[in-house]
Amino acid sequence: MSSVRRRIGIVTAGGDAPGLNAAIRAVARTTIAAGDTPVGILNGWQGLLDPDDGARDLRAEDLSGILPTGGTLLGSSRTEPLADEVAQASLLDGIERLGLDALVAIGGDGTLALAHQLATHGARVVGIPKTIDRDVAATDVCIGFDSALGVVVEALDRLHTTAASHHQVMVLETMGRDAGWLAALGALAGGADVVCIPEFPTSMDSIASSVSARRTAGKLSTIVLVAEGSVVEGLDEPTAHYDRFGHRRLSLRMIGQRVANGIEAATGLEVRCTVFGYVQRGGSPVASDRLWATRLGAAAAGLARDGGADAVAVRDGHVVAATLAELTATRSLVPRDLYDLCCALG
Ligand code: F6P
Repeated sequence: MSSVRRRIGIVTAGGDAPGLNAAIRAVARTTIAAGDTPVGILNGWQGLLDPDDGARDLRAEDLSGILPTGGTLLGSSRTEPLADEVAQASLLDGIERLGLDALVAIGGDGTLALAHQLATHGARVVGIPKTIDRDVAATDVCIGFDSALGVVVEALDRLHTTAASHHQVMVLETMGRDAGWLAALGALAGGADVVCIPEFPTSMDSIASSVSARRTAGKLSTIVLVAEGSVVEGLDEPTAHYDRFGHRRLSLRMIGQRVANGIEAATGLEVRCTVFGYVQRGGSPVASDRLWATRLGAAAAGLARDGGADAVAVRDGHVVAATLAELTATRSLVPRDLYDLCCALG
């Protein structure tokens, strides 16, 4: 073991996801086992902008009991100064003031893009992909997705029975800003008759005629699954609302309720809408998220200490060294054939 005691920062940024604590635990325990000090950055990148109050050394006792817990013990925020050179200089300054030798950044596309920018400015950063949207490229796994998918499937199971009892048309809105993985795989695993996802725009006419066709065929209940970022021709786009970081608040777009209203107007049927919302992001991680978070976290801690690559990913069932450039070069989107399967089985 080297006598140099390194300081390895850990930051969780962007929307939280089940499994973040498992990843923090793995990074920190691996770091402690190597004789180094894990440093928790509080409240996402915000903690580095205010390093006097925004970070604390993590001790072994901080890590006990967190494997099954949802959320992130470090806190998170949407602070993501991707286009702000001055703020990025402050982040680099924060890394230096905290004496960090490396920083493990656990996040989705925005977090990893910012980590990439800091790396190009000379910081030693290692990214771990996390997002319930599952849209980070060049990895088969994003921490949190499996847990969120489980919530969607369980909710679908419940809603099928009430829809069937009342011969009801139900619209269900999932998260999914640019990618419709939660809705598409939710539809395949939980059953949905009509699926709308951001990747493949559809129209109100097409949705309403699918619902009508089912009625004509004698199917009295219909489940319409709509990802929050879906584009539906024939619906007026409401005024966009943004949070203080410039991030569009898609929950205020109310696409699910607007699709429900559109079906009512076109068919005369009563329609109910359920928005899954933040329930998808909260709660305890499922076993697969805990396992991948643990394996990715341990691998990232090794890279943070020894160097060699600036990201980790899962490919073909293995944790591999990757690059932030490839993880952020594009977005993982639902392919046409998978979407066609959702439609064919509806
Ligand atoms: O970032 C993942 C995500 O789950 C998106 O699907 C969704 O648009 C967003 O979080 C909403 O989160 P917030 O309201 O916290 O910005």
